[in-house]
Amino acid sequence: MTGSDIRQRFLDYFGQRGHRIVRSSSLVPGNDPTLLFTNAGMNQFKDVFTGQEKRDYTRAATSQKCVRAGGKHNDLDNVGYTRRHHTFFEMLGNFSFGDYFKQDAIAFAWDLITKDYGLPKDRLYVTVFETDDEAAEIWHKQEGVPLDRIYRFGEKDNFWQMGDTGPCGPCTEIYIDQGAGQGCGSASCMPGCDCSRFTEIWNLVFMQFNRDSAGVLTPLPRPSIDTGMGLERIAAILQGKHDNYDTDTLRALVLASAEATGQDPDGPFRASHRVVADHLRSSAFLMAD
Ligand code: ALA
Repeated sequence: MTGSDIRQRFLDYFGQRGHRIVRSSSLVPGNDPTLLFTNAGMNQFKDVFTGQEKRDYTRAATSQKCVRAGGKHNDLDNVGYTRRHHTFFEMLGNFSFGDYFKQDAIAFAWDLITKDYGLPKDRLYVTVFETDDEAAEIWHKQEGVPLDRIYRFGEKDNFWQMGDTGPCGPCTEIYIDQGAGQGCGSASCMPGCDCSRFTEIWNLVFMQFNRDSAGVLTPLPRPSIDTGMGLERIAAILQGKHDNYDTDTLRALVLASAEATGQDPDGPFRASHRVVADHLRSSAFLMAD
């Protein structure tokens, strides 16, 4: 599947399940002084989560243009050096505004990746927030994920927030094992390790709170769902690559950089070509917006 096919399959899946397909919002947030660039699919729905804004739908799905080059979610310094970071990327997401919650969010995600995308269950792992017994039970009893493939982590890994303020909540993440050959070899290597063996593919956030500037958490009017799956990561997996920059959309830019500079795309300037490919996307889409 090409990157475009994967994006379309995602939107069709959720469209067929009652989700309004909403266009990506601009990379320059419309009305949010807390944010320089759009950094997640949920940004355009922030006020819907907090109840300040009403829409005529309670389920939505998007492929959102994101830039993470500063602020709370900043991937700038990893670009070019890791196989899976970008300043610009597309985030595939489904959202529930007080409609479905944990049970359906987990069921949709598992169904899509194991059936429609056909990922092998025996390479998948999940993580949940350390006290979230409910999510762990849904993964185990509803979806049949073995207990030894369900990890529990604290706030740093399994509590998501957009920035210092705004909607937030505990989350559950899905990881794929890329094989020991891609890993650091450490005996303690597991989902969450910084090496390339276990790749996080999808984050499902159980939106339950709004954090104010004093850090105080207030419950949202209705528990909601916010999810994000990086298109470039899932494309790498589905295209059998171990590197996002080898997928159809990014490889073309790496090759263009190699041609323009007369330097081997995979030679000593490999990291530089990736930085060029990444920054071209960021700057082009930022200028367009
Ligand atoms: N908003 C969540 C994230 O960006 C889904 O990971």
